[in-house]
Amino acid sequence: MELNPAGPELGDAFGMQLSESLRLERPVVAYVERSDGLISPSGSAQWLGDEESWPPAVLELLGRASGRVLDIGAGGGRHSAYLAGRSCEVTALDNSPLALEICRRRGIEDCVLGDVGKSADLFRDSDPFQRVLLLGNNVGLLGSAAHGTEILRQLHEVTTEDALILAEGRRPVAATEENHAYVTANRARGRLPGELLMRIRYGTIATSWFPYLFCDPSELALIARPAGWEISEVKDFRYPGSPPAAPLLSYTAVLHKSAPGTDARSTG
Ligand SMILES: C[S@@+](CC[C@H](N)C(=O)[O-])C[C@H]1O[C@@H](n2cnc3c(N)ncnc32)[C@H](O)[C@@H]1O
Repeated sequence: MELNPAGPELGDAFGMQLSESLRLERPVVAYVERSDGLISPSGSAQWLGDEESWPPAVLELLGRASGRVLDIGAGGGRHSAYLAGRSCEVTALDNSPLALEICRRRGIEDCVLGDVGKSADLFRDSDPFQRVLLLGNNVGLLGSAAHGTEILRQLHEVTTEDALILAEGRRPVAATEENHAYVTANRARGRLPGELLMRIRYGTIATSWFPYLFCDPSELALIARPAGWEISEVKDFRYPGSPPAAPLLSYTAVLHKSAPGTDARSTG
């Protein structure tokens, strides 16, 4: 076998992690690598557990889902399958072929391989969605302020007037020395403190580098408004099993379309 000084082979590392965990019937660990070299372990169990392991805030949010639902970054399809079992018409969108294969095996028929940044092209000709899910901290997929506004603008285009985005986000933390340096570098470049560039590694395989965003609800509101969305119903929560004294970093939020006339997109 040849050594590979150019680094890991590009591939579907996240989907491989999920598939391997299901095949081996035990949790397996992938690694999240940040652009400054920080590497953190990330277990598969958090993406494959059923509703008994979900935070009450997420279950409550899912109670708002009905009709035609777009599950963005659906992963192994845990939320898609839950809602399909409750009479929702679910479309799972993901850029991981292996994750979508798991969704299909769970009975999700409408699985779309694609990038959230291409939602308008992917769904312009479909019936509009009534609900959009950004769960499993998938507010992170907004990536940055500008990219996030563009994604939300596209979601505005492919959803009904009374649509809701059911979102889960996570605030940035700057408690460690590395995080503090990363946040400081972001601020110096005019970026939000929680903008990251990262990739997922599993075994010898890595995804491409992609932008990821930790943001607080007020930052999310500023990203959403120019795209015609308002944030409401913010609820802070901790993941089950977190120490009670751990900082409250996670939150759920509902985004609804701005009233006509207050939509920043219509003023320009
Ligand atoms: C953190 S996982 C969450 C999965 C799922 N929502 C859950 O909670 O179990 C993020 C998912 O988003 C997908 N993803 C990442 N970047 C994406 C992109 N640009 N477009 C579509 N899906 C993406 C990944 O493949 C992965 O399945």
